[in-house]
Amino acid sequence: MTPAIRIAVFASGAGSNALALLQAGRELAPAVALPLLICDQPTAPVLGKLEGFAVESALIVRDIDKKTHEANILEKLQEARIDWIFLAGYMRLLSPAFVQQWQRWHGGAQQIVNIHPSLLPAYPGLDAVQRAVDAGETHIGVTLHHVDQGMDTGAIIAQQALPRHPGETMHALMQRVHALEHQLYTRFLRDVAAGRVPTRRLRIA
Ligand code: GAR
Repeated sequence: MTPAIRIAVFASGAGSNALALLQAGRELAPAVALPLLICDQPTAPVLGKLEGFAVESALIVRDIDKKTHEANILEKLQEARIDWIFLAGYMRLLSPAFVQQWQRWHGGAQQIVNIHPSLLPAYPGLDAVQRAVDAGETHIGVTLHHVDQGMDTGAIIAQQALPRHPGETMHALMQRVHALEHQLYTRFLRDVAAGRVPTRRLRIA
């Protein structure tokens, strides 16, 4: 039997995307396995929500320089033989060196993806929904994209607009944004599991 495609989820906060992925991953086993969650925030609520999942959480805080921090993450990913990185509300930019190393380990394939709450290239970075609302946009959106060496600049995999409802609270809007994120991300996970997205396995020279 082909071994499972192994995915690490990176999260820094509430973790609704991480949990949606872990739940979907359970149903897609043994085609995929999500054995590792990397978190950089000791107080991140996601860390308290992992009970019942066969996932190891690795808290790797940035109390050292970026290079050492990322080297620690790479070591953990290597140990767990990870093929893909799914960023799910991970609020830290991966350095070009990290992205290049990951690509080298996977035969040149760009196997890091990220979910972002805007219609990229509009509103990259933090507080994307709030900034779009403040600018009076009639549509918010969600983008799933490959991660390259820029901030929210990689090739787009899937993107969907979300029309705003008149008088809707920010809370209600965020709930709809999250629901759409979960939908796009789990669809991509299913595509990976089904082999519709080619996967290069981790190979360290
Ligand atoms: C999500 O809306 C995600 O798109 C966003 O953080 C939120 C995390 O929510 N990510 C970014 O803004 C990255 N630039 P979650 O912790 O509930 O998954």
